[in-house]
Amino acid sequence: MDNQKADIGFIGLAVMGQNLVQNIASKGFSVAVYNRTAAITREYIETVDSENISPAYSLSDLCNSIKSPKRIMLMVKAGEAVDEVIDQLLPNLHKGDALLDMGNSNYKDTQRRTHQLTEKGILYSGVGVSGGEEGALNGPSIMFGGSKELFTEVEALIKSISAMDFQGAATLTYVGPDGAGHYAKMVHNGIEYAMMQAISEAYFLLRDVFHKDPSEIAAVFANLNEGPLNSYLIQITADVLNKRDDLTEGFLIDKILDVAEQKGTGSWVSISALENGTALNILTEAVFARSLSADKQTRIKLAELSTKNELEKNSRDKNLPDDKQLHKLVEDSLLVSFYLAFIQGFHLLAKAEAENNWQINLSELTRIWQGGCIIRAELLKDLKRYTETKAVLIENEELFKMINGKIPSLRELALMATSHALPLPVMQNSLLYFDSMINPNLPTNLIQGLRDYFGAHTYKRTDREGIFHTNWDDQN
Ligand SMILES: NC(=O)c1ccc[n+]([C@@H]2O[C@H](COP(=O)([O-])OP(=O)(O)OC[C@H]3O[C@@H](n4cnc5c(N)ncnc54)[C@H](OP(=O)(O)O)[C@@H]3O)[C@@H](O)[C@H]2O)c1
Repeated sequence: MDNQKADIGFIGLAVMGQNLVQNIASKGFSVAVYNRTAAITREYIETVDSENISPAYSLSDLCNSIKSPKRIMLMVKAGEAVDEVIDQLLPNLHKGDALLDMGNSNYKDTQRRTHQLTEKGILYSGVGVSGGEEGALNGPSIMFGGSKELFTEVEALIKSISAMDFQGAATLTYVGPDGAGHYAKMVHNGIEYAMMQAISEAYFLLRDVFHKDPSEIAAVFANLNEGPLNSYLIQITADVLNKRDDLTEGFLIDKILDVAEQKGTGSWVSISALENGTALNILTEAVFARSLSADKQTRIKLAELSTKNELEKNSRDKNLPDDKQLHKLVEDSLLVSFYLAFIQGFHLLAKAEAENNWQINLSELTRIWQGGCIIRAELLKDLKRYTETKAVLIENEELFKMINGKIPSLRELALMATSHALPLPVMQNSLLYFDSMINPNLPTNLIQGLRDYFGAHTYKRTDREGIFHTNWDDQN
């Protein structure tokens, strides 16, 4: 009987799935769960002890145990696994049933799957979920993409499991059709990469130029969290730095290998920017910083060959700012880097939105990222205001003036880092982006001349309309 059946089906009981299911069940919805490896389902059912969660050990059992039309959430590894699960599910689905991919799928895959499933009469949604394990359990930020009809129908459920913004409203929004939700999540993750990299660069400077120990640096971050940088990432940075090692003496951070891993979304956001011709150097450098970190052995070898130590010795302790000045330098530089990372991310979103006809509401994203997700930050309050008044964020005068006022600090910090051979890819690229954007005469005129010289690519002139080509061999 249908009323004894579960409200929804859920596939994928790894860390995100287990927590999300608990969240859904705690809001009074009944969930039938399935995981490819049955032992995980069994163990989960034994530990959660909720009458709203029931196990299924095959996909047909799962489909038989949920109400019709079927609403099934997928939280499996992004990529081929999603296609495999969809293929296995299809024989059990009928017109009007719906699949919601809650994982970090590539938006192009989501577009393809939407197309394929819509043709079969199945509703499909790509839903961006941010907040990691804790967010999944207590309330993530949810970027819903795909079928609007499905959104309206499941809105109450999804609203109940999401976090809250600064005003107490649910951190859920309908982003747009097909891949829009996953695209927004991808950009969110790109911004997250940049913020984390900028934070690690501030730590790097405090550690290697100012020779502070982890607890001193943690105190700096705890202090920064009291001001305009107040955010989840700054807050947990203080916790990570303060953590003592339980295997040996000292701080855990000093024992962690400096090789950072990455999954798909960081590189996808950069690929998307390259494809649609949007400058995204800040977010992309954060991805490259992780790739570069993997070359540990080469870095060790080249450090011995280089004159880096001499450079450090020569510049050591020369005219270094006191703690109060340092606090301002770091605060301003992080703020500029954070704001510019959002600006670049939003610029990319605006471009993608226009190309795909998505009609993404950027202001809504600044609202739903205020709670539940990894990039939640006080500055989103300001950004929300700015996105409401001007589509091209960097052209917002108030925002621009605020960033402009903090640029001298970033410039000073970048110079200091350069003189100590300290690479700060995100901070230095923030400065590079800003300096490029405020320069009305870039040297790209020469590039155009060179292109026309060897490839007859033509160029435009500054003093008249039209397309021109020059015979460069002719010395007159
Ligand atoms: N971890 C995070 O903080 C986070 C945050 C936001 C979003 N996400 C996204 O959420 C999704 C789930 O993430 P996760 O970290 O919980 O798990 P995950 O490691 O990405 O994926 C593991 C899950 O996928 C299942 N799976 C893998 N290949 C499969 C296949 N061919 N057929 C059926 N099931 C298959 C696994 O089943 P078995 O147990 O049988 O192997 C397991 O349930 C991913 O898309 C991830 O990118 C993760």
